Amino acid sequence: MSKAEEAKKLAGRAAVENHVRNNQVLGIGSGSTIVHAVQRIAERVKQENLNLVCIPTSFQARQLILQYGLTLSDLDRHPEIDLAIDGADEVDADLNLIRGGGGCLTQEKIVAGYASRFIVIADFRKDSKNLGDQWHKGIPIEVIPMAYVPVSRAVTQKFGGVIELRMAVNKAGPVVTDNGNFILDWKFDRVHKWSEVNTAIK
Ligand code: A5P
Repeated sequence: MSKAEEAKKLAGRAAVENHVRNNQVLGIGSGSTIVHAVQRIAERVKQENLNLVCIPTSFQARQLILQYGLTLSDLDRHPEIDLAIDGADEVDADLNLIRGGGGCLTQEKIVAGYASRFIVIADFRKDSKNLGDQWHKGIPIEVIPMAYVPVSRAVTQKFGGVIELRMAVNKAGPVVTDNGNFILDWKFDRVHKWSEVNTAIK
């Protein structure tokens, strides 16, 4: 296992070890780090007979929950989540996050938004002073397809930088998210007041 994979595993398992308790509703994030957390959740469910319910943040998360034999639910049945666990692409010194590198950001944000607690699992490669120090692919923005041009213009006119429509691999045309949307990757050219940017993008 590579050093990075080992670090992901340590972070994922530590989150589950330290924060998951019996009778919780869990939000399950997306990406490669969360796989290690789900593996540890499944081990603990078996070993400790835990009663846990899992709400996915993506098709990938749903498949993981099913693959590991965990109890799958949704926000219809469980609109209040005790703890959401998810990865990040980068974390700055003020704990601002870039998320959505894997293309699953909207459901991740909804699940985190309805969780009482949110735990981010991130390895050493993602630890930055300023956003953009380590992650060079920009800030992902999920956008309804008909609006991708005006949204791109609005963001670059207000904050500068360059926006790219994320293109698919092994399929002609753009990446289409689990929600049928497009993803814009905004390559910003300076450090911003991120709470202001976040509000403007929303
Ligand atoms: C999914 O789109 C993302 O928000 C991921 O959670 C984030 O990109 C972290 O992914 P890795 O754990 O694969 O680095």
